[in-house]
Order: sequence, then structure tokens, then C-alpha cells
Amino acid sequence: MKVNGKNYTSIWIEDNNKVFIIDQRWLPHEFKIVELKNLNDFCSAIKDMWVRGAPLIGVTAAFGFAKSMETDNSDDALINIKSKLLSTRPTAVNLQWAVKIMHDLLLNVNKDDRVDEAFKKAKTILEEDISANYRIGKNGYEIIKNIINKKNANSLNILTHCNAGWLATVDWGTATSPIYYAKEKGENIHVFVDETRPRNQGAQLTTWELLHNDISHNLIVDNAGGHLMQHNEIDLVIVGSDRTSANGDVCNKIGTYLKALSAYDNDIPFYVALPSSTIDWNINDGIKDIPIEERDANEVNFVQGKDKDSNIINVDIAPEGTKSRNPAFDVTPSRLVSGLITEHGVFEANLKSMEKLEKITKGQI
Ligand code: MRU
Repeated sequence: MKVNGKNYTSIWIEDNNKVFIIDQRWLPHEFKIVELKNLNDFCSAIKDMWVRGAPLIGVTAAFGFAKSMETDNSDDALINIKSKLLSTRPTAVNLQWAVKIMHDLLLNVNKDDRVDEAFKKAKTILEEDISANYRIGKNGYEIIKNIINKKNANSLNILTHCNAGWLATVDWGTATSPIYYAKEKGENIHVFVDETRPRNQGAQLTTWELLHNDISHNLIVDNAGGHLMQHNEIDLVIVGSDRTSANGDVCNKIGTYLKALSAYDNDIPFYVALPSSTIDWNINDGIKDIPIEERDANEVNFVQGKDKDSNIINVDIAPEGTKSRNPAFDVTPSRLVSGLITEHGVFEANLKSMEKLEKITKGQI
């Protein structure tokens, strides 16, 4: 998508297998590009959220695997790289998905061919992410169009939470992809962006994306969604997911569950956009079994922003020494989800419908 009129992806590769990312820690105030050169860089980039968002975490891990092969292509290295990458963040299943693909592939490849094969596979994972998200946009657009037609309206108001935009994927985003697609089709879309405390991915990243891609939007505080829904100001909610269980429970950024409850109470469609790489087919009860990342309490006690001299600073917003809790994700039960927008189509969030999706994903039908 566009930044100052120029097309970017969130991660890309240049000559001699050099891997570059947009360092998201400084957005929207500074646009910084960083080269990731070794396994430590890749692990820090994921753990400390230079990159974030489930699909992008997976793609970054795949390139981390490939880059690490350049310094050590041994079997021992495969085990070490796998365990280091897996220890970075626990919730987004795309990390485990990508690491398993890379590890299992390379285990069966001659050592001398491992670098080439690893980069080939990582590039395929990157390209497939772009293609899946584009198709999510196309499939989600059908939902947007139907609601516009049903309401006989000439515009649509969509609420989104966190950043499930192109910055969270390689390109297009998941929740934002139907929005970008609809915009290309000439639809009049307005987006309400939850700020998404504590790290403010909505305020800092989603607004920045929408601004640069000319999508009408308002930033709102996390607690405003229910009020706007009660007053018919929201027609549709679309969020992303970090891990969705086989029965359709959706894990996403903390606060998503409350939005789903409000949407349900106000009879507003609540859709989740996700590539099939975000589904954990081994889990049947999302609330019980999806591991929820508990992040540093300082993320709650401090807020990052820009001061009047344009320095990026953290300011303390609670009495010094306040003990905070910082669960980073929550799980929305499938019964509150109107549907899952995937690259293979829109599916109901229940076991039966998802069984079909699983077969499609695994190439069985
Ligand atoms: O902690 P983050 O910023 O990695 O969390 C991101 C989200 O919760 C996104 O909504 C999710 O990964 C879907 S991204 C397409």
C-alpha cells in the first residue's frame, strides 16, 4: 500500500538476500527502514514489535530462518533457530506455522542447498500472504456491498480494532483489505479506528495507513464503540485475528471481545478477516487453550508520543510504582462472530463450516 504516494510492503528482500522491514515502533512520527541481518535481529524484531501482526510475524520468522542458514546450515542450527524464534511471542499461531514449514522443509534438504531453498520458501510464504490478503479483500467486499444494498445507503461505517492493516501483513492487511478493495471499487467507506491501548496500534498505525491511502476515518477511544453502535453510527465491525480455533473462537487484540459483545447487543455484523494460516486446527476451545501473551506492565503505565520538540518520548500516566496487568489478547467466542472472511471465502464460525475450510486449506477438496 501507499506511503506518501509510493508503494511499500511491510517487509521485502533486496539483492543478495538482504531483508528489510519498516520499523513500526516509531510510526506515525518517524518512518524508519531497518535491515535484519542475523537471528538476533529477527528475534528482537518480533519480540520487541519492530514488526507485529500475526501474518507479518510468520513471514518475518520464515526469513529469520533463511537468513540464519547463511551463518550455520547444520542440523543443530535448525533446532536452535526454531526454538529461538518460537520463544519470541506466544499467541499468533502464524509464527509456529511458518517456523514448522521452514524447519520441516530444511531438515530434508542437503546442507549445501539449505540457504537457497530457505529463501525460496520464505519468498513463497511472503507472496502467498499478499495473495491471500488480496482475496480476503475481494471476499469481504461482497459483505460490504450486501450491507450497502440492504440499507439502500451510499456509504458504510466500519469499526476496526488494533491494526489488522497492511502493516500487520505483507500487504493489504486482513481487516483493512475489504476496505481498500471497496475503495478501489468506488464505495464510500468511513472507518472508526479504536485507539487500542496499551500500545495504541489503532491510533499510531491504522490511522497512519488510512491517511496515506486516502480512507476517511475517525480515531476513537476504546470505550466509544458501544455508544456509537447504540446510535446507529456503525454498520459493520471487521477485526483481524492472532489465532482462531477449529471451532471458530477468535483470539485478537485485547478489547476485541467487548466490541463483539456490543455488536451482538446492537445487532451489528461482527466479522473476522484472517488468512487460513491464522487458524490453529489443533485447538477446539479457544478460551481454554489459546495462550495469551502477558506483556510488560510498563506498556500500561507509560504512553509513547511526540513532544513539542518532535522527540519521541514515553510519559508516565499512573502514580509511580502502580502495579499493572497487561494481557495482550482476548478470545471472542464463536457465537458472537457473524463470519470468518478468509482467502477461500466467507465461513460461519462453527465446527461444521470450519471442517470444510480445513479440508480446502489442506487441499483435501
Ligand atoms: O500485538 P500485535 O500488534 O501483534 O497484535 C496484532 C493484532 O492483534 C491484530 O489484530 C492481528 O494480529 C491480526 S493482523 C492482520
